[in-house]
Amino acid sequence: MALFAALISVLACSPVGEPHQSNAYQAGAPGIGDADFPTDGNGGYDVSHYGLAIDYTPATKHLQGVTTVQASATEGLSSFNLDLAGLRVREVSVDGSAATFTHKGEELTVTPAAPIDKHDRFTVKVVYDGTPQPAKDSANLGTYGFIPTADGAFVASEPNGSKTWFPSNDHPADKATFDFAITVPAGVTALANGELTGRPTTTGGKTTFNWSERHPMATYLATATVGKFQLRQGASPGGIPTVAAVDPKFASVLDKLYTDSGKITDYWSTVFGPYPFSSTGGVVDDYSAGYALENQTKPLYGGFDPDEMIMAHELAHQWFGDSLSIKRWKDLWLNEGFATYSEWLWSEHMGKRSADEIFKTVHARPAGDPIWSYPPGQAKPNDLFNESVYTRGAMTLHALRKSIGDPTFFELLKTWTARHRYGNVTTEDFVDLSEQLSGKNLDPLFDAWLFQPHRPA
Ligand code: TRP
Ligand code: ZN
Repeated sequence: MALFAALISVLACSPVGEPHQSNAYQAGAPGIGDADFPTDGNGGYDVSHYGLAIDYTPATKHLQGVTTVQASATEGLSSFNLDLAGLRVREVSVDGSAATFTHKGEELTVTPAAPIDKHDRFTVKVVYDGTPQPAKDSANLGTYGFIPTADGAFVASEPNGSKTWFPSNDHPADKATFDFAITVPAGVTALANGELTGRPTTTGGKTTFNWSERHPMATYLATATVGKFQLRQGASPGGIPTVAAVDPKFASVLDKLYTDSGKITDYWSTVFGPYPFSSTGGVVDDYSAGYALENQTKPLYGGFDPDEMIMAHELAHQWFGDSLSIKRWKDLWLNEGFATYSEWLWSEHMGKRSADEIFKTVHARPAGDPIWSYPPGQAKPNDLFNESVYTRGAMTLHALRKSIGDPTFFELLKTWTARHRYGNVTTEDFVDLSEQLSGKNLDPLFDAWLFQPHRPA
C-alpha cells in the first residue's frame, strides 16, 4: 500500500506531457510516416547497419536467411515492426535473448523479452527461409524485389521490394550500412553492393561471397543478384575501383559496360562533385525486366545491352537518389528528374543534342500531352514512376538553369550533393538552396514546373 501511494505521488509529480518511466514504452508504429505509403517502413527506431547472410539455391528457389539489424530506439519500445513479405520466420532474438513475434501480412512484429529504452542501441536477429515472391502490385512497376531467374535471381527492389528478401525498415528515410554473406552453388556468382571483403570461399560445393557497402544505403538499393556471370574488375581512368558483370549471354557487352561505367562515373565526378562511394560499375543480367535500377555502386540492367544514355542515367543516380535519398516518395523527381536531366547533360557533353534542344522539343508537345496534367513535384503513389516525374522533372532543372545561369546552376548541383551527402532530402530543401545560392525568389518557377497541372509558359 505504501509503495502504491508513493507511486501515485510520483506520477502526480511528473511534468505535464512527459510520460513517466512506468508507461514510457509503446508499440512502434507499423509505418515510418510516409502518408502515401502508410505501412512502408516502421516507427520507433533507426537502423544503422544490416548484416545479411543469405543462402540461395537457384534450382529449388529456396532462400535461407539470417538478417541482423542494428538499430537505436527513437522512443521507448515494448514492441516494434520489421517489413517482411512472404517467407517463414523461424526465430527472432533481440540482444541475444529470444523474442516473441507475429508475422501478419507484410509486418513482422517483434516483442523483445524486455522493453527497449529510448536512445538504446539494440540488435535484432531474424532467422527465416522460404521461396521469395517478387512484388507485383503498386505504382505501375511490373515485377520487382527478389526475382528468381533460370540461373539465380535478379534483385531490384524499388520502391519497397526489399521486404521480399530480408526483414527491414523498408523505406529510404532510414538508410544504413550493409554487409552481405551470400552463399550459392559453386560456379554461380553472387553480386551485391560495395566491395568484396575477401576472396570467395568454397566448401562442400557452395561458395560464399562477402560484400560490404560501408556508406549508408536505402533498402531498395540493396541487391543480391545471383547467376552465371563474367566479371571484369579494375579502376576507371580517374582511379575509381570498377566492377562490371554480365550474364554469358551478354559476353560481348562486358568490355563496353566496364569502360563506359568508369568513364561516365569519372565525368559525373567533375560535374556533380566527388563520387560518393568506394566503387562503381554495372551488372547486365539476362532477365528481361526492360528496365534498369540504380543499385548503389552497381546499377543493374535487366536483359538488354545498355547504351550510354541509360548508363549516364543510372550512374547519375549514384549522387541523386543513392547518396542523397528522398525522405518521402512524393519527392521522387529529386531522383528521376535529376537522372533524366543528366542524360541531357551527357548528350550535350558528347556533342549531340544540347539540353536546350531536348527541352524545346519536349516543351513543344501539345497541351493535351499527359506530362502537362501530372505535376511532377507530387509523385502519385499509384503512378509513382509516371513519365512526368522523369521528363517534366528534368525540364524543371533546365528552366532553373536558364533562370539562374550556368555558373550558379552548376555550383548549385555541387553544393546540393556536398551538403546532403549520404543523407535525406526534400523538395523544400532544394528550393531553399536554389534561392539561397541565386538570391532569387524561385517560388513561381518551381510552382509552375512542379505543382501546376498544365504546361508552364
Ligand atoms: N529507378 C529506375 C530508373 O529510373 C526505375 C525503376 C523504378 C525500377 N522501379 C523499379 C527498376 C523497380 C527496377 C525495379 O532507372
Ligand atoms: Zn531513374
